[in-house]
Amino acid sequence: MAEKRAQWGSRFGFILAASGSAIGLGNLWKFPYITYENNGGAFVIVYLVAILLVGAPIMVAEIVLGRRTRHNAVGAFRILGDGKPGGRAWMGVGMLGVIAGFVVLSYYSVIAGWTLRYIVMSVSGQLGELAQTPETLQTFFGNFLGNSWQQLLGHLLFMTATISVVILGVGKGIERAATILMPILFGILVLLVVYVMWTPGFSQAIAFIFKPNFSQLTAGAVLEALGHSFFTLSLGMGAMLTYGSYMRKSTSIPRAAMAICILDTMIAIMACIILFSIIFSFDIDVQKSSTILFTTLPVVFYKLPGGAVLCTLFYTLVAFAALTSTISLLEVVSSYAIDELGWARKKATLTMGVAIAVFGSLSALSMGGVESLSSINLIGRDSTAGIFGTLDYLASNWLLPVGGLFIALFTGWVLSSTDTRNELEEGHGPLRFYGLWRFLVRFAGPAAVGAIIVSVILGAEYQ
Ligand code: PHE
Repeated sequence: MAEKRAQWGSRFGFILAASGSAIGLGNLWKFPYITYENNGGAFVIVYLVAILLVGAPIMVAEIVLGRRTRHNAVGAFRILGDGKPGGRAWMGVGMLGVIAGFVVLSYYSVIAGWTLRYIVMSVSGQLGELAQTPETLQTFFGNFLGNSWQQLLGHLLFMTATISVVILGVGKGIERAATILMPILFGILVLLVVYVMWTPGFSQAIAFIFKPNFSQLTAGAVLEALGHSFFTLSLGMGAMLTYGSYMRKSTSIPRAAMAICILDTMIAIMACIILFSIIFSFDIDVQKSSTILFTTLPVVFYKLPGGAVLCTLFYTLVAFAALTSTISLLEVVSSYAIDELGWARKKATLTMGVAIAVFGSLSALSMGGVESLSSINLIGRDSTAGIFGTLDYLASNWLLPVGGLFIALFTGWVLSSTDTRNELEEGHGPLRFYGLWRFLVRFAGPAAVGAIIVSVILGAEYQ
């Protein structure tokens, strides 16, 4: 009955697909603005430490669970939990991941849909006119958010693109999309970074990002960096687990995980360099940093030579980055239906994709106006009104951290050290950092995620 499980065509296929999942709105939108709000420098260092000590080890853990079992998030816990303390109850962690995938994709694709509208407007020249003054663009954006049909259209188009890729399967769909989109994404980013190197704000941007000023670092900033390291690496909901389940035994898990973490971090920093360079080049008052990408950025781009081209390139970049992430979100849900419910890929992807699109329409239709933007926090702190804000709050602050906590506890405490060591070392020889990795998964991961959860319970404010 069991069909042979698909595998990535090559090591690079996996790395590209998984980096595609990791690199998304979290890198291009969220990271620059939280770095801005937390005064750069020291915040960036804390973020790097969080990626290294918490994110990377948990990523390795997720991939181990997937590759060991060659199953989706629920199946992986079912197989590995069997006969262990807690037994099948661990399947709940996988189920939580599938639910998180469903929920996150439903609103992520609404934001992703905005990029489509901006690409069209850059090409048609409309954006150039609107971006003459910050006020006109702000007003446009507010109206755009309140325009149900346009919100719905962008969302449905983006879901259609996502479904079309996932339906084609692991090799022909996901891997091929990543192999085409990721190099273009890197190319555009490099082009934009080279461009901003000649802008007057470049050196100020570099100083802002890299000069640590620890006196400005708050406890909230540390928690925010931790939380974000999780979201940006697509951890806590089985995305890396699912992608890991298609990984070849010959690929080294720690090396691949390192490559993904480095790429993801590099891109987040490059996004900061691009955004801050142009913002610092002009004396622009960034009132609401969470809307930078859609209200401030075009204004600045159009002050530079080749504004229309820059905008087109930039929003294409964001759309591609978002697409490779939405693909992974849908794959978590589809692979669950394929493995656990025994559905064919086509049925699983279509049914789940359409269900998510319908559910996401609630978010698309409830975008109130510019104010509602402050409610989008993608692992931010404040709980807010609106379906969109509530779902994001629920997923970012609860589903992902709780999922991550249990993934770390399961891998570190329930699985035996032989289980994990075998999976990591098989065919690759002894792993020098195995002890360190296990220590981080057992202690650092749970402690860090525990701190995030406690802070959410206590209602701690980030800023
Ligand atoms: N990592 C993606 C980003 O940074 C978001 C994501 C989270 C994707 C969880 C898949 C799973 O935008």
